[in-house]
Amino acid sequence: MKNKIKALKTKISEAKKGGGDKRIEAQHKKGKLTARERIHFLLDEGTFEEIGMLVTHRSSNFGLDKKKILGDGVVTGYGSINGRLIYVFAQDFTVMGGSLAEAHAQKICRVMDLAMKNGAPIIGLNDSGGARIQEGVVSLGGYADIFYKNTLASGVIPQISAIMGPCAGGAVYSPALTDFIMMVEDTSYMFVTGPNVVKTVTHEEVSSEELGGASTHSSKSGVAHFSCANEVALIEDLKTLLSYIPQNCEEDAPIHPYTISNEHRKNLNNIIPENPNQPYDIKKVINEITDNDSFFEVHKNYAENIVCGFARMAGKSIGIVANQPGFLAGVLNIEASTKGARFVRFCDCFNIPILVLEDVPGFLPGTDQEWNGIITHGAKLLYAFSEATVPRITVITRKAYGGAYDVMNSKHIGADMNYAWPSAEIAVMGAKGAAEIIFKNEIKEANDQNAKWEEKEQEYAELFANPYNAAAHGYVDEVIEPEHTRLKLIKAFKMLENKVDTLPKKKHGNIPL
Ligand code: HXC
Repeated sequence: MKNKIKALKTKISEAKKGGGDKRIEAQHKKGKLTARERIHFLLDEGTFEEIGMLVTHRSSNFGLDKKKILGDGVVTGYGSINGRLIYVFAQDFTVMGGSLAEAHAQKICRVMDLAMKNGAPIIGLNDSGGARIQEGVVSLGGYADIFYKNTLASGVIPQISAIMGPCAGGAVYSPALTDFIMMVEDTSYMFVTGPNVVKTVTHEEVSSEELGGASTHSSKSGVAHFSCANEVALIEDLKTLLSYIPQNCEEDAPIHPYTISNEHRKNLNNIIPENPNQPYDIKKVINEITDNDSFFEVHKNYAENIVCGFARMAGKSIGIVANQPGFLAGVLNIEASTKGARFVRFCDCFNIPILVLEDVPGFLPGTDQEWNGIITHGAKLLYAFSEATVPRITVITRKAYGGAYDVMNSKHIGADMNYAWPSAEIAVMGAKGAAEIIFKNEIKEANDQNAKWEEKEQEYAELFANPYNAAAHGYVDEVIEPEHTRLKLIKAFKMLENKVDTLPKKKHGNIPL
């Protein structure tokens, strides 16, 4: 037995070395951690239990029989983060570039299956040269097996992808199917085809970073939800993200202890500028309304005209969707609509109540938006809110104009409670444009056309640029002083915490993709 235990120990220490000291050193030189180091930082100390450490590939193509490395380039298993069960896989770039083939894929599928059966999140730490070229079609099959499981797991357990190195070709589609993508600045990239192919096909010269680095995907394409300065920062953000979300679709997010005391927020009375066309930062409102320092923004640098993120309200997780008057006047465009819709759907999948802060002048006009399908993309946001069955509350802080009024979680599409501040303007359109259309003839016939226009604008504004018409119809439940907003919301979310709502029986809806 003694010798057998010794042989086992030798195997374990061999497996833990991955591709060996030289390759580990090369990994460190690139400013990257190894797969095992990443898991060490990610999980609670001493909780990692590895699965499949001794798995190897079964190929002998192109000399692979002489390149059998225990673990086959991916470390898989389970452990805990802040005491909560988590499944994890971490690709090991020191083993054949973390490339994926049959055995590697089977290991990933195994932890995905366990995560699904046991109702816990799965975290993928991606760092791979893609399909293992020597193994051919089984590599492609392995990817497809993962894609299929990603899709089945969607909406059942949270899936989070950290990109910590290359992620190219079809390999990008597993992260793309998960709930959140987090990327490390300067050392990670994602693209369907790399710079060389791009150059051949389109004659564009572009670097890997520019084509698919963290900054590109977190600001231009919106593929990545988080861009982190380094790997340790990413792991910290990942843990924070998990603290807002439940283990699976049957559970609620963890509750942080909170004692309600003085919840009035006087500063809120002074945020909205006197001039309705002057911008302000909606994040100031968010920070005043939510528990101290609890706001955690998602997609911070993408479609900044809509702000999405998690926060806590008296210790409980909520998702916030807020128009940002400080960026493009908070208008809804294609990017903002898809960003908001995806976030709303995530919250609804995982029982996270939604708060909407509304100050929206409407949808962005123009050929660019129309030709690129603002109709379809705007409908995504409308659809996402309409089908969400979690508690939903809206606060109209200022403008709620046109179709955007309906879309932004109005009572008509199922919001549970709608509040408005006295500064709210709820109408079909702004007073100036409205006056121009409905009083066109009167203005044309007037001696002083400008004076007439102003008079009619004023008339329309007095009737509609306020919350009282909507309140009279019950479209707004209460007009509240801004400083009382936090307390109102705490009470309303508490009142809604046992909400039960169902959708009509169907196979699945057909969201306008
Ligand atoms: C087998 C691979 C590999 C791969 C890297 N390696 N990628 N082995 N299959 N896909 C090996 C290298 O041969 C090398 O082995 C080691 O990993 C480290 O790679 P280097 O090239 O030395 O590292 P680096 O200079 O950092 O470059 C990393 C890289 C490059 C940019 C990822 O390796 C690369 O371009 N790899 C090929 C990427 C690729 O085209 N993959 C297929 C994408 S298509 P040694 O023994 O020399 O250390 C795809 C389809 C998926 O993935 C479809 C799913 C539906």
